[in-house]
Amino acid sequence: MADLDDLREGANFGLGVASQKQGFHVKGADHLMWGMKDRLSRIFSPKTGRTVMLAFDHGFIMGPTSGVERIDLNILPLVEYADCLMCSRGILQTSIPPTFNKPICLRSDAGTTILTELNDNVLIDIEDAIRMNVSAMALMLSIGDPVNEAKTIANLYKAADLGSKYGIPIMGVTAVGKDMARDARYFGLASRVCAENGANIVKTYYCDGFEKVVAACPVPIVIAGGKKLPELEALELCYNAINDGAAGVDMGRNVFQSESPVAMIQAVHGVVHDGLTPAQGFEMFKDLAK
Ligand code: 5RP
Repeated sequence: MADLDDLREGANFGLGVASQKQGFHVKGADHLMWGMKDRLSRIFSPKTGRTVMLAFDHGFIMGPTSGVERIDLNILPLVEYADCLMCSRGILQTSIPPTFNKPICLRSDAGTTILTELNDNVLIDIEDAIRMNVSAMALMLSIGDPVNEAKTIANLYKAADLGSKYGIPIMGVTAVGKDMARDARYFGLASRVCAENGANIVKTYYCDGFEKVVAACPVPIVIAGGKKLPELEALELCYNAINDGAAGVDMGRNVFQSESPVAMIQAVHGVVHDGLTPAQGFEMFKDLAK
């Protein structure tokens, strides 16, 4: 029987005080269920609404390229400074200690390698993502590619169905084909298509007119870093993206190929979360890199 000893009657009902309404800090997520919001809150800081995701999924199509040769040596020292880790399940299971307890954005599609053209794209089993307790699943979309566009949109659509069933947010990653213009019209279309098909987060590239891409996308956008830039330029890229409305970055090479990756990720964090200018971020980078 339940212990009824000293069972006190409730007396503090706050009568006359309106019940508290709670807004949610992630764009387009107000009407999602609790599990989705909990996972999104692990990725996007409730304090700033932003995120610094560390992407190191490159090996799944490129093999051991520069900066990801040894996850234990190159990536693990960066993990404590990242808000979220984006990687494949193979790397997660073999090389990321679960004791780090960081939210994971799992690379959840697979296709070909850089040795061939993309000709197929499959989705991993959501049960595997659930077993690994991931906070989001990421899939690539080949918008504008006559061969793979439909296949990759269908994958996103399916992932969004499964994600909403199990409370796992989906991130659509807009791949840019060789023939695509890297402009606001293209990225605006690609981002909007991701969101309309159920993505809860969109990863795309920064471009001129980026504020229009953000304005027309009803879910948060994080930017990829792209090819390695000098550190100051990479920090300018982060700053401009945040200024134009990005909710954060999902960067790889500009962090792990930096001459001081640990300093760089902290400088990126300063720009994204703490309002540092690129010049201030660069000073921080130089101080920490000494
Ligand atoms: C490609 C990806 C990669 O993770 C991402 O683009 C890599 O980041 P970066 O460009 O900053 O190295 O999602 O599909």
